[in-house]
Formats: sequence, C-alpha cells, structure tokens
Amino acid sequence: MLILGIETSCDDTCVAIYDTKNGVLFNEIYNQELHKNYGGIVPELAARLHEKKIFFLINKAIKSTIKDFNKINAIAYTYGPGLFGSLLVGATVAKTLSYIYDIPNIEVNHLEAHLLVPMLYNKDLNFPFLSLIISGKNTQLVFVKKLGKYKILGCCLDDAIGEAFDKVAFWLGLGYPCGSKISKISKNGFSDSYNLPKPYLKGFSFSFSGIKTFMKNLIKNSPKDYQTKCNLAKSFEDTVFEVVMLKCIKALDFLSINKLVISGGVSANLNLRNKLSFIMKKRNGRLFFTKKNICTDNAIMIAYVGSIKLKKSENNSNINIFVDPKITLSNFYI
Ligand code: KG4
Repeated sequence: MLILGIETSCDDTCVAIYDTKNGVLFNEIYNQELHKNYGGIVPELAARLHEKKIFFLINKAIKSTIKDFNKINAIAYTYGPGLFGSLLVGATVAKTLSYIYDIPNIEVNHLEAHLLVPMLYNKDLNFPFLSLIISGKNTQLVFVKKLGKYKILGCCLDDAIGEAFDKVAFWLGLGYPCGSKISKISKNGFSDSYNLPKPYLKGFSFSFSGIKTFMKNLIKNSPKDYQTKCNLAKSFEDTVFEVVMLKCIKALDFLSINKLVISGGVSANLNLRNKLSFIMKKRNGRLFFTKKNICTDNAIMIAYVGSIKLKKSENNSNINIFVDPKITLSNFYI
C-alpha cells in the first residue's frame, strides 16, 4: 500500500510517501523561515505559504518516486490540533485529491501520530508504554495502553517546553525559533553557575511560563559575553530536564511499567536523551526515540498512522472538509 501523508498543522509544509512494504519513499519539509521576522508564527501567513508550497511538494514526491499519482492507495492528512487556516489547506488538498483519484482519505490526529511514529523505527517497541510528547506546542505524559487507548496523565498548564526553549534562545540572541541552538552552546556551559527555580514539581503536569519569565529577566541583567550565555543555556536546560525526568520516573512508577518513549521536537535534544538513557538503564528499563528528522513535525508520522487506520478500515471517501484545531488526545480516553 502506498500512502501519501500531508501535514500542515502549523508552520511546516510536510509531504511524505510511505510504502507499507518498503518503508518511507519520500519525506520533505518546507520550513517557513518568514515568521522569523515577526518573532512568532503569524497564522494567516502560515496558511498562505502552505497553499503556495503544498502542490510543489506533492508533485516532487510523485515525480521523484513512483512517477504516477494513480499508484497512491490513500491520502492521510492532519485534521488537528493546529492552526485553523493551516489545517484547512492540508484538508482541502487531501479531500480534493481523494475525490479526483477516487481513493480513501484518512483523518489523522497530529498528537496520536507523535505517539505512534516511534514504533515505525523501533520494531521491538510494543504496548503498553509511557510516552512523553515534548514539542513547540505540547508537553504531555500519556499512557499508551494499546492502539487507540490513551490516557493523558499530565499536560502543559501554560507554555509548552519547546516554546520556553525558543524564547530563551531568542533572548540569548541565538535567533528564532532556535531551541536546538540552546543545546549547541550549553555544551560549553557550567550548570552550577545559576540556581534556577524548579518549575512546578507537583503531579504529572508541566508549567514553564515561570522559568521562562525568570530567564528573560536573568538574561536581561547578565553580561552578554559568550561564556555567560553558555552558562545560562546549560543551567536552563539542566533545570528543565531535571523536572521532566522526575515526572517521567513518577509516572513510570505510578503505572508500574518500564518503557519510556519520547517524541516531538525537543526529544531531539542530545542532553535529554543521554540523561534519560542513563536513568532508564539504571532502572533496567528501556528508552525509545525516533530519528531526529522525525522528532519535529513531519508527514511520515501522518502517513504511517494513516496506514494503520486504513488497515483497521478507519478511512472514508467523503469530501467534507474536516479539521478540528482544538482536538486533544482525550477523545481516545481509556
Ligand atoms: O515537534 P515540533 O516540530 O512541534 C511544534 O512545532 O510544536 O517541535 C519544534 C520544537 C521547537 O520549539 C524547537 O525549538 C524544539 O522543538 N527543538 C529543540 C531541539 N530541536 C528542536 N528543543 C531543544 N533541543 C533541541 N535539540
């Protein structure tokens, strides 16, 4: 089966072709650099840019792989959560192609895709497991009991972890959105240079707005030399990850399981991977993650979950444009 995946939930235009026999045939992401000029994503501009890029990417996907669109068996697209206008572009394109080529379309929840895509690259990963989704818009601890049966243990009460990384990087003068640059300079920093407040230690949920504001003021009042920036980055990273690790351990103990899966953009962070690998080894547990280019938003995860849903006949041929910008994983509650 050949599945075309379309992901346009935010500011990345993503297209992939997933072959259930031979794996990923095509995966490309067009990142909308334009938003850098505004220090944040402008939803209207994001939607317009998706509209400009999506057919170019789909044409490229077909031409560089299977040559003929008629070979595609189904189209999977992200219906939410995300930005309304951006989601609409992907949904409209998916539904239109589904109608023209008379093939099924599959509506995929972006968060469920983040939850399940690690299974594509870790064949020994099986249910149940604890999943930590850490991205620019989400911070969630989810118990993944089996396919379609998920329980949210904790979520972000305010800013997502990736948002905190992006803003701290911006205030450090590293650019925007550049969460990944924090980990680059933190390698040269010393963690004990600052004693930062530990954000929200209660329960399984997360809160990063407090440490974000603390960092804004600290950076404003600190010297601007390179070593100070490295120390600030290292202290911020270590403090945030300490809380994340603590909550993961608490959740694993609560569930009496020992398999942890991390996904979402921030899971690409090497410092976090090393810290979590270390504690999971100490517990005789297992840590799973995906390739770095699958951690951030991508269409492989949409096509992959689409293929699972197609197998379960969770597809349709109706062409009603359907998006749900506010959908959570709670509709899958156990
Ligand atoms: O999954 P993703 O593409 O989702 C959203 O856009 O929600 O994740 C993007 C986020 C950004 O906030 C980015 O700064 C962060 O992931 N990120 C990182 C790293 N690489 C990407 N944060 C910390 N360390 C990294 N190495």
